[in-house]
Amino acid sequence: MAEDPLFQRFGREFQKGAVLFREGEAGKEMYVVHQGRVTIAKKVGGVEKILASLGPGEFLGEMSILNNKPRSATATCAEDSKLLVIDAKTYEAMIRGNAEIAVRLIKKLAERLQEADEQIENLLLADASSRVVHYLARAAQKAPKGPAGSKVEVAPKELPARVGVKAEQADEVLMKLLKANIISVHPDGFLVPDVDKLLHFLEFLQMKAQFGDVA
Ligand code: CMP
Repeated sequence: MAEDPLFQRFGREFQKGAVLFREGEAGKEMYVVHQGRVTIAKKVGGVEKILASLGPGEFLGEMSILNNKPRSATATCAEDSKLLVIDAKTYEAMIRGNAEIAVRLIKKLAERLQEADEQIENLLLADASSRVVHYLARAAQKAPKGPAGSKVEVAPKELPARVGVKAEQADEVLMKLLKANIISVHPDGFLVPDVDKLLHFLEFLQMKAQFGDVA
């Protein structure tokens, strides 16, 4: 990897926990993940919301250098990482000179817009339990399916920040889902045998939120 000419020119190594940039700062560079993982997060009212966890081949920090706006979120290395660090001028020259890079960028931005729409849908749900169940259902629908079900690869301890709820709120609903055998929990993620059951549980929570405990 280190012999890769692109890495020789633009490569830099970062330790786990290194903050690449913070929300609100001016942006001068974009980054491509070569090895490792970078977390994109926002902090609102004391609760951290993880917007994305980006691995090899994915890029970040392109928005503020393309639109000249402050960084929209904070980027932190979740592991020791090797990244390409590309300044704004070079990045723009790459986009202008290579249609394939431009098409990849557009496709990725479309994907992010779709994810942001899903996050809006999630944030419109009034209660924390519904938001956790909605997040798991959407993630399970996109996850690879094995014989035992869909595997959502989000570490359980990271789930509250992914949804933007408190750890106790996530635990409360996860216990109910476990008890009802709708999910099982593993150190590196969740197994969802039948996504429809999760969606039914979400409907049930929505009814409860609408009508209260009338029984
Ligand atoms: P920028 O605004 O420069 O700094 C924060 C970066 O996080 C942003 O560029 C994108 O690269 C990335 N980012 C922001 N929002 C999302 C999102 N919803 N999903 C994935 N990446 C994002």
